Amino acid sequence: MPWRLEDIDLSRIDPGLVKQDETLFFLLCSASFIESGSDLYTRNLVDYYRDDQDVADWLGLHWEPEELQHGRALRAYIEHVWPDFDWESAFNSFFGEYSQRCTLEEFEPTKALELAARCVVEMGTATLYRSLAEYSPEPVLRELTTHIRTDEVRHYKYFYLYFNRYNTLEGNGRMKVLGALVRRLLEIRNDDAECAIRHVLNHRDPAHANDKATIDRINADARRLVQRNVSADMSVKMFLKPLNLPPRMQNGIEVPLTRMVHYALR
Ligand SMILES: [Fe+2]
Ligand SMILES: [Fe+2]
Repeated sequence: MPWRLEDIDLSRIDPGLVKQDETLFFLLCSASFIESGSDLYTRNLVDYYRDDQDVADWLGLHWEPEELQHGRALRAYIEHVWPDFDWESAFNSFFGEYSQRCTLEEFEPTKALELAARCVVEMGTATLYRSLAEYSPEPVLRELTTHIRTDEVRHYKYFYLYFNRYNTLEGNGRMKVLGALVRRLLEIRNDDAECAIRHVLNHRDPAHANDKATIDRINADARRLVQRNVSADMSVKMFLKPLNLPPRMQNGIEVPLTRMVHYALR
């Protein structure tokens, strides 16, 4: 582990700096749910790559424990600042729904293409935590989200490395890779986050449980917070990288894809 939650002194948290920030609360909860649910994904992914010792080992020994630590770290932070919120109950009801949707069928049809799609997911989380670290008015949260962001960028690099290895064998053309990237980009836009936010709301504010207007408003606020605090340039570069575009092609395709990445990020 490049860093350990146990080494961070949570008593240094200054709750007064963030307690009233509802948007931040929902964003952190939704991130903590998706991270904590990631062992399900990992198991599926390890299974998909079980013939490849190298990838399976990295997924099982590094990626999974790091993602789960992200979940634990965010949970610990939430419970420190918002002790009234029953994180565990809300997570359990979220996980009941999430685990139904998260199956092997949703993987890309080939190993290289799934690795390209994983690059998109890591691009998305790297962007989210970069934005949270930038925004955070509270030092311990800034420290945590900076650690997490660094992990996500490293995850991206590994998936990108493995993608290249597999794509040399599979020889997928750019259109196929682009298809995988766009499909996953559209998937990460709201599906999981909206599901998480709904379950947080249902536990936080039962009077508005499942209220579509409230969920939409929270989602829009969260998206604004993320977008305000991040320049999408780096995210767009990460998104385009697996296409390995020659410079002359980049100009044509970059504008519409940049728009799509902007749209998809939160
Ligand atoms: Fe993560
Ligand atoms: Fe990650």
